[in-house]
Amino acid sequence: MLKLLFLSIAILALHPSFSSGEQCKLSAPPPTSPLTGLLPCTLYNNGFANIWASDHQTISDDQNHVTIELDASSGTGFKTKTTYVYGFFNAAIKVPSNDYTAGVINTFYTSNAEIYPNTHDEIDFEFLGRIPGEECILQTNVYANGSTNVGREQRHRLWFDPTKDFHDYSILWTPEHVVWFVDDIPIREFPNLTGQKADAVYPGKQMYLYATIWDGSDWATDGGKYRANFSYAPFVASYSNFIVCGCALPQPSSPLAPVCDREFSNAKLFPSQLSTRHRRNIQWAQANYMTYDYCQDKNRYPTPPPECATSPPKIHEQIDNEQHEIGVDDEL
Ligand SMILES: *[C@@H]1O[C@H](CO)[C@@H](O)[C@H](O)[C@H]1NC(C)=O
Ligand SMILES: *[C@@H]1O[C@H](CO)[C@@H](O)[C@H](O)[C@H]1NC(C)=O
Ligand SMILES: *[C@@H]1O[C@H](CO)[C@@H](O)[C@H](O)[C@H]1NC(C)=O
Repeated sequence: MLKLLFLSIAILALHPSFSSGEQCKLSAPPPTSPLTGLLPCTLYNNGFANIWASDHQTISDDQNHVTIELDASSGTGFKTKTTYVYGFFNAAIKVPSNDYTAGVINTFYTSNAEIYPNTHDEIDFEFLGRIPGEECILQTNVYANGSTNVGREQRHRLWFDPTKDFHDYSILWTPEHVVWFVDDIPIREFPNLTGQKADAVYPGKQMYLYATIWDGSDWATDGGKYRANFSYAPFVASYSNFIVCGCALPQPSSPLAPVCDREFSNAKLFPSQLSTRHRRNIQWAQANYMTYDYCQDKNRYPTPPPECATSPPKIHEQIDNEQHEIGVDDEL
């Protein structure tokens, strides 16, 4: 499945005319260096467990496909059995294809709110439901050490229809940065500027990885203007191809393990800086598909949060060395 995805991306890049009739309207994704193909899949029963309403969840016999559904009685979700400090987390996701999904939120995110309710960290992908005729919007966000009074949302349209097929959504979290990827294309970077900039925040405590579907009518669609309508239910989201490649810390109270630093800081697989190609990928995604950026919301943040000055990222020519690009010549 992953190989097929890459193959089709490669074909798309080489022969734009082979893809759908819509291609001429869309800006084709730029070439990137896939990380997902370098890492092993995690089977559901090895890595995850249901959180609530298990009757709204199905798991395939091969433990590689999970559906979660929302109806009038309940949503549902699952999370990893243990917590991680740093990591690369991926799921291939197909979002609900119902004509009307306003109010419906389905997610893929890391959080430790259960362990640290007042100082929690969180890294989000959130698909926001839509009314007929509107495009799916993917929201990303990050909280650090309880900074929930500062929402750091970005919103992107996608260069494909996320209801039609599975696409990979990945979170990379290292000591240096958080990077959100869609089909291995980085769409956003959040740098760790603590110690460099006053008031900078960065997620620093072990987190679980979650996937959920729930009724977010109060804010999901046009700020809550359109609410969930359960005559269109059930809303079913499908997940597959899990990658849970993190530094496991089974005891929720243990301090940040130095071993995790060693594993994820400057590791060959996860360079501490984005390659030039990845920076161009982010610029491409932001220029063509970003519909909202908290850094540019002057009404909300007259003084933008500290990381905004460095966003969007600049191209630093001195790191323009293709050999160090993620995934090109690295082994697991
Ligand atoms: C997180 O917040 C708590 C409570 O406000 C504070 O004591 C702690 O120093 C903060 N940790 C970091 C890493 O900023
Ligand atoms: C963020 O960067 C600072 C400065 O390099 C470092 O001390 C800290 O450990 C990093 N935070 C995390 C959570 O890795
Ligand atoms: C829900 O959708 C149905 C079918 O389109 C419609 O008849 C009904 O009025 C909607 N309900 C609400 C509360 O909007």
